[in-house]
Amino acid sequence: MHADIEGRSVHWLERGEGELALLVHGFPLDARLWLDQFDPLSSVRRVVAVDLRGCGGSGPVVGSPLTMEALASDLDLLADHLGADRLDLLGLSMGGYVALAFAELFGHRLRSLVLLDTKAEPDSEAGRAARISTAERVVAAGSAAFAEELQGALLGPEASIPVRARLRTMVEATPYETIVATLHGMAERPDRTHVLATVDVPSLVVTGEHDRIAPPEVAEATAAALPDGSVVVIEGAGHLTPMEAPQALNAALRAHLARVDAG
Ligand code: MLT
Repeated sequence: MHADIEGRSVHWLERGEGELALLVHGFPLDARLWLDQFDPLSSVRRVVAVDLRGCGGSGPVVGSPLTMEALASDLDLLADHLGADRLDLLGLSMGGYVALAFAELFGHRLRSLVLLDTKAEPDSEAGRAARISTAERVVAAGSAAFAEELQGALLGPEASIPVRARLRTMVEATPYETIVATLHGMAERPDRTHVLATVDVPSLVVTGEHDRIAPPEVAEATAAALPDGSVVVIEGAGHLTPMEAPQALNAALRAHLARVDAG
């Protein structure tokens, strides 16, 4: 699906009916991250997986940095466009940084929150410097090399060839301008650990056993800081749990949504 929203071209994948569940992908990916979630979730929700600005079929990024707050505002406008006052928001990694910016700016719209393979802490000084050198390296060496690097950095040891293929497809489809602007936007993101205590809706934190960006101990601390948070660690998976362990993840997501619906 596609719409022009406030002068911006927004593309998303959609299936199912009912209350809105909005799925927000990580960096440098797109809505195809969630392909294995459509069937199991669309019997209980209107599932919308958005392509963030500059990704997938959505319109281009103009300028840099692209901040997490700007991306959260895009989600707020998309929810308006879809006619949903409240939503179940699911964000993976950078999508989780955006989800926490959304919780801070538009928290009244949340019915529930799922943070996958993500964290509320900002980058360290060294992490910020690494983002800048990554931006330089990707523009110099190309995204094929970056896709190869990310297969090693993001996926667990058991990731299948189809999973590797989908990751590579998404990374190589992401424009350089998007990669650069979002690396700078992630480097600038503030600490949002204080936001966790304000999320007064059912919340789930998920991570992969082998996730090196948001390891299990970080997920456990995040869940403990949420007033109504629980945690699921998925065995064998790395950073991309929706692709690497869809069955285990989908079971956790369906249990979460059933808990939300039970009130
Ligand atoms: C992501 O998967 O969105 C990124 O790895 C997040 C990050 O680099 O911090």
